[in-house]
Amino acid sequence: MRIGRFELKGRALLAPMAGVTDRPFRMLCRRFGAALAASEMVTSDARLWHTQKSRRRLDHAGEPQPHVVQIAGGEPTMMADAARLNAAAGAEIIDINMGCPAKKVCNRAAGSALLRDPALVADILEAVVKAVDIPVTLKIRTGWSPDERNALVVARIAEDAGIQALAVHGRTRACHFQGAAEHDTAAEIKTRVKIPIVANGDITTARAAVEILQRTGVDAVMIGRAAQGQPWIFREVNSHINDEHAAGKNFSRIDLAEVRVIIRAHLESLYDFYGEETGVRVARKHFGWYCRQHPDTDDLRRTFVAAPDTGSQLALVDALGGVGAALVEQAA
Ligand SMILES: Cc1cc2nc3c(=O)[nH]c(=O)nc-3n(C[C@H](O)[C@H](O)[C@H](O)COP(=O)(O)O)c2cc1C
Repeated sequence: MRIGRFELKGRALLAPMAGVTDRPFRMLCRRFGAALAASEMVTSDARLWHTQKSRRRLDHAGEPQPHVVQIAGGEPTMMADAARLNAAAGAEIIDINMGCPAKKVCNRAAGSALLRDPALVADILEAVVKAVDIPVTLKIRTGWSPDERNALVVARIAEDAGIQALAVHGRTRACHFQGAAEHDTAAEIKTRVKIPIVANGDITTARAAVEILQRTGVDAVMIGRAAQGQPWIFREVNSHINDEHAAGKNFSRIDLAEVRVIIRAHLESLYDFYGEETGVRVARKHFGWYCRQHPDTDDLRRTFVAAPDTGSQLALVDALGGVGAALVEQAA
């Protein structure tokens, strides 16, 4: 799949997740073969970018190309300015968030709430595409509500506006995260427009990812929550795509001991990125997700949450059993 001058190496992308896909996690997933990893969304209101949270979200130092910055907002001029400022700061792709169920960003309709207003969608997309000479991509839901599914209309607007790839989360805004995501809408859009289409929502295994790619004909899949605590899912998807004999293997079910090296490196990158105090807090969340993959880790998780500093957190990781360096070497 190609986005502007970037030919992506793979067909599995990391979904942007505020509070999860920070720079350390994006880099980890890219190392495991995620073909693209957009930043957590930043508001289009540049007046708010001075906060530490926004500054961190805009930090892409050391990340593999292309650097994708996701912006959210509902005002065309402001969105265009945000895109321009990010491009000047080194963004190589701008992604527009019209998929987030939050009603408002900065007191204006934003995210998937915009889907109800196709004219405004067109204005925003045209303004952003015009503002920058880097590719602009879009992420949407299938519509406002089950009765107002207009993803196909929005896809056509996007293509006409010069959007270079479209990710479709297979739920409406009203569905939030309830029910199962569907990918028939993405499949239909794929047959009606020429830009690359990415299917997103509830893709939790490599097998499912490959099945969706084959069944729907979309260009790529985007994986969010299933990457939490198992960033190696991208390598697994890539193996299944590239090697028909890989179908029986399942790298996700690796032993906790095997992931020790990965967790340690991940935690250290969190401490570097956030500093000790915040790093320790953020590490708890990720450690919980790693444990989720393994039975009988409740005690360990509790002990980890109580560990007060980087040293005690790392000591718990070191006590996890044998070193599974092979996995990391394979993924490097
Ligand atoms: C904690 C969390 C934060 C999210 N933040 C964003 C975001 O910043 N931008 C965005 O476009 N979507 C965001 N999403 C939606 C995801 O990108 C994705 O569309 C959704 O989780 C469905 O994919 P999944 O089933 O693979 O997780 C977020 C989802 C979660 C769970």
